[in-house]
Amino acid sequence: MNHFYIKDNRLYAENFLVEDLVKEFGSPLYLYSKNQILRNYREINQPLVSSKLDFINCYAIKANSNPEILKLLSEEGAGAEVASGGELYLALKFGYLRNKITFTGVGKTDEEIEYALRENIFNFTVESLQEIQVISEIAHNLGVIARISIRVNPDIDAKTHPYITTGMKENKFGIDSKDILEVFRTSSKLPNIDVIGIHSHIGSQITEVNPYIEAVKYLGDLIEKVEKMGIHISYLNFGGGFGVKYKNVLSHRYIPLEDDSETGYASLGEHVESVIKLLSSYNKKLVIEPGRSLVANAGVLVGKVLYIKQGELKKFVITDTGMNDLMRPCLYQAYHQVVPLNLKDTGFETVDIVGPVCETSDFLAVKRSIQKLERGDRFAVMTTGAYGYSLSSNYNARLRPAEVLVDGDKYHLIREREKVEELHY
Ligand code: LLP
Repeated sequence: MNHFYIKDNRLYAENFLVEDLVKEFGSPLYLYSKNQILRNYREINQPLVSSKLDFINCYAIKANSNPEILKLLSEEGAGAEVASGGELYLALKFGYLRNKITFTGVGKTDEEIEYALRENIFNFTVESLQEIQVISEIAHNLGVIARISIRVNPDIDAKTHPYITTGMKENKFGIDSKDILEVFRTSSKLPNIDVIGIHSHIGSQITEVNPYIEAVKYLGDLIEKVEKMGIHISYLNFGGGFGVKYKNVLSHRYIPLEDDSETGYASLGEHVESVIKLLSSYNKKLVIEPGRSLVANAGVLVGKVLYIKQGELKKFVITDTGMNDLMRPCLYQAYHQVVPLNLKDTGFETVDIVGPVCETSDFLAVKRSIQKLERGDRFAVMTTGAYGYSLSSNYNARLRPAEVLVDGDKYHLIREREKVEELHY
C-alpha cells in the first residue's frame, strides 16, 4: 500500500490526517512520506544487490534536494548525481561520499570543474569534446587526473514529453553517435583524463521498458567498438528516467477514474529487472541515476480553494497554490491527480483548477472531473515529491511553501515557509 491513502473518506499521510498537518503548518504545504522514499529506494536497490552486479545507485538530487531527504538517502547508502556546483555542495554537506558522486551537465563552468576536481569526486559525465579539453587543462593545472564518462546521444525515442526527452538528435545532451568514437579516441590521449565509462540518459518519465532495452543494446555495441580501440571501459552509466504513475494513484468511489490507457506502464521492479537482465552479460560496473522514481510518489502539495468562478465557458476553482509552487502542469502539460482531503458524495463536475499567479498558464489541472469544491476546501496534488519544490520560484513575489516530512507516528518541519523579508536578499 502507498503511504498516502484514504480511510473513512479522508486523506492520510502515514499515520496522520493530512488535514491536521495542514492546519498546523498552513497552506500551501509540501508533505512527504519518509517510509515511501525508503520503500522506493529499496525497491530499486534490492534487485541490484541480489543480482551481484557491481553498482552505484546515485540519487539525481535535482528531483528534490531538501536537506532532510538528502540525508535520508545518503544514510541509506545512495550516491549522488549532481548537475551544478550548488548540487555538489549540497551532496557533500549532506553526507554523500566523494567516491559516489557523479557530476553531469552540458554547461559546467571552469569554477565548478575546479571545485569538483579539488573534491576528487568519482566521475564527470562529459557532453562535448571542448568540455573534455577544458577539464583536462584544469586538471593539469591542479596536478590531478579527472575521471570521465562520455555521454552518448544514441538517438533513441524515450516516448516521453519532448521537454524531458534527452537522447534524440535534436536534443542538446550527449555526443552524436557519428562523432562518439573519435571523441573517445581523442580523450583517451589527453594527459590528465582517465576515460572510465560510457553514459546515456535518454529521458525522464519513461513508462515502457523498450526504450531502455534499445539503449542498453546500443551501449553494448558501442562498448565493443571502444574497447577494440584499446580503451578499457569500467563503468556503464545508465542515467535515470524510470517513470512513475501519475493517474489513478488513489482510487475511491468519490474520485473519478482517470484515463491512463495511452501509457503502457511498467513498475519500478520491472524497469530495474529489465536493465539487470541485459547488463549482466556486459561485465561492467553499473551506475544508475534515479531521481523521480525515488521521491515523486512520496510527496503531495496541499492547497486550499479560495474562490469558485463560473465563466461563460468554464468553471474555475481558484486556489492558493499554482505554477510558482508546482511548475510541471504549465511547463510540460503534466497531469497530477487532485484529491480533496475530505471526499464527499457531491457528484462530479468538470472544472479548471487554477492558481493565483498572473499568467494564463497558471493551472494545476485543466478540464478536470472532480467532486464539487467550495471555498475553504483543501486538496492534495498527488505525486509532487519530484520536481515540485525543486522547480518552484518566487514569481509574483510569492513565498515558497513549507515542507513537512512524516515518519510513521512522527512528523518534522523540514523547511520553513519563506518569509516576506527573505524576498529582498
Ligand atoms: N541523470 C541525468 C543525467 C538527468 O539529466 C536526469 C534528469 C536524471 C538522471 C534523473 O532522471 P529521473 O530519474 O528523475 O527521470 N523536470 C522534469 C524532469 C527533468 C529531468 C532532468 N534530468 C519533470 O518534472 O518531469
